[in-house]
Amino acid sequence: MEIVARSEELKRIIRGWRIEGKTVGFVPTMGALHKGHLSLVEKAGQACDVVVVSIFVNPTQFNNKEDLKKYPRTIDEDKRLLQESSCSILYYPTVEDVYPEEDKRVFDFGMLDKVMEGEFRPGHFNGVAQVVSRFFDLVQPDKAFFGEKDFQQLAIIRAMAKMLNYDIEILSGDIVREPDGLAMSSRNTRLSNAHRKESALISETLFESKELMTAKNIKEVINFVVEKINESALLEVEYFNIVDGNSLQPLDDWSQSEYIVGCIAVFADEVRLIDNLIYKNFQNVR
Ligand code: PAF
Repeated sequence: MEIVARSEELKRIIRGWRIEGKTVGFVPTMGALHKGHLSLVEKAGQACDVVVVSIFVNPTQFNNKEDLKKYPRTIDEDKRLLQESSCSILYYPTVEDVYPEEDKRVFDFGMLDKVMEGEFRPGHFNGVAQVVSRFFDLVQPDKAFFGEKDFQQLAIIRAMAKMLNYDIEILSGDIVREPDGLAMSSRNTRLSNAHRKESALISETLFESKELMTAKNIKEVINFVVEKINESALLEVEYFNIVDGNSLQPLDDWSQSEYIVGCIAVFADEVRLIDNLIYKNFQNVR
């Protein structure tokens, strides 16, 4: 695995690969890698000849400066994990390399970013779209891979790729969970022992709520999830929405869509965790 800090160097290597007719997979990350990231790298390795992984904690997607400061950074361990993976190049740039000048683009995602993460983290998805489009321009991958834990991000990236006419296949990887069900996240490392243990209640409650689908309507399932998690003194639900998996707009009735997802954000002390659960996917969307 090569480690590259400069975009010019990355372009030069990718040009060489293209001449050799190699297909390029791309996995963008913000580091503090876990098995969820590594499963995407392996997926990319199976689907493409070469794989570029980026590690860049993108300042433009943090609406909260404190969150940016506290975002976990574990570059030595990340390098070690990537050495043992299908990663061909680790792109580990500086802020100046990614943003030689300020990115002033404002994306219009319609209603997609007006709900959930978009509502509670204003500007977040605009920053995600800025950085991912810069990486797409630079790497020009055949396929790019994103985790399904960030369900709304995946929808935004698909919309952005369509909007900017990228000829890139956007692929997703399943949520990878800890043995107790907690969705793997770089932020989990910031949890105290007590909060880490209690956070298993999030997925446990989501899984339990799926069993209630036939007996309860959407509003009742939402109340069940929010009340059960909020009963814990260590957790506080920021939002729990049951939405159409394509438009991400809230639903009133289970019959309104063939693709239904519940998306949740929960504070465990000051650490914000997100998770989601697919209630219905008769369209087989992935
Ligand atoms: O999901 C993430 O880690 C980030 O939002 C991404 C896609 C790498 C963009 O910074």
